[in-house]
Amino acid sequence: MTVIDFPAPTTPTHPTSATARSRHRGSPPTVTLRELGHGETAVLDAVFAGLSAHSRYLRFHGATPRMTGAVRRKLAAVDGRRHLAVAAFAPDGTPVGIARLMSTGLREVELAIEVVDAWQGRGVGRRLLTAVASRGRAQGYSRLVADVLAENVGVRVLVASVLPVIAVETAGHVVTLTAALRPATPLAAVA
Ligand SMILES: CC(C)(COP(=O)(O)OP(=O)(O)OC[C@H]1O[C@@H](n2cnc3c(N)ncnc32)[C@H](O)[C@@H]1OP(=O)(O)O)[C@@H](O)C(=O)NCCC(=O)NCCS
Repeated sequence: MTVIDFPAPTTPTHPTSATARSRHRGSPPTVTLRELGHGETAVLDAVFAGLSAHSRYLRFHGATPRMTGAVRRKLAAVDGRRHLAVAAFAPDGTPVGIARLMSTGLREVELAIEVVDAWQGRGVGRRLLTAVASRGRAQGYSRLVADVLAENVGVRVLVASVLPVIAVETAGHVVTLTAALRPATPLAAVA
């Protein structure tokens, strides 16, 4: 199992507002991140159980009182290349969040991320996104796409605070964010 050594952030990488700051609940907790292996359904189940109905709605884009068998199998089918997932664990080992990338093309991956409600607003989402983006980069992906509900300000701010967003498209109530995983190649280097 790959343990990802990723330091806790010390300074925010985006302009903070009074509202965003007020989300923090005390000092940053210590969570451990590691890459999920194939078939770790217990981790999926624990994180799903810790999501409120509203968080499930935001994550799955609809009321999701339970994970169907098909969805559970799909989410557990990580392979470390075309489907990567990083999970966060509380000091007592309880799973508290997962960020995953699923390949949608040679260079493009789609993001899904969730943090259990009790741990939201403590920097776990930022650490998960940074870690999974780093894994995606290492696998050669250059673009990350996230389809998010327009009302989901939290994930929109999160993505933009971690990665350079290069396109935003809105179709109905879904906003598609495209972010760069690699810096653009300087023109001088390709001339
Ligand atoms: C979106 C989500 C993953 C964020 O995780 P989190 O651990 O709460 O996020 P963090 O504490 O790491 O926040 C990192 C930054 O994101 C932004 N952010 C996160 N949630 C926010 C919110 N509700 N409002 C405004 N900004 C928010 C802030 O910039 C924050 O930094 P700051 O607190 O230093 O200002 C989490 O709220 C969640 O799981 N939501 C339900 C599922 C979901 O919406 N998934 C995304 C769809 S795929």
